[in-house]
Amino acid sequence: MSMYSKKVMEHFLNPRNMGVIEDADGIGTAGNPVCGDTMTIYIKVKNGRIVDIKFQTFGCAAAIATSSMITELAKGKTLEEAEKITRDDVADALDGLPPIKMHCSNLAADALRAAIEDYRKKRGEK
Ligand code: FES
Repeated sequence: MSMYSKKVMEHFLNPRNMGVIEDADGIGTAGNPVCGDTMTIYIKVKNGRIVDIKFQTFGCAAAIATSSMITELAKGKTLEEAEKITRDDVADALDGLPPIKMHCSNLAADALRAAIEDYRKKRGEK
């Protein structure tokens, strides 16, 4: 019945890195005005690299799967590399999303970028 790929279902049912980082170095939130879903991403940064990342998502299956996937893609990357992750990268890594669900993957990429921006602001780099 599923319009989702196996990978989407797998990440939706077993999300990676779900939760909160209490002493996060950067926190970013993104919301989707259309459906009202929101996502928050927490990052820990060391020597310019994302050493830990967690997410909290109040959203649909695609939003949860894309959050889970983006945390996996971003972990271990430098901030510059992580910033370049696009919603298409996330969708590709999940073997595609149904077209009507592509907007959901914006949340993940936007929240990650917001978390990086927050980190830089806190460090006075902006
Ligand atoms: Fe809202 Fe997917 S329907 S993020």
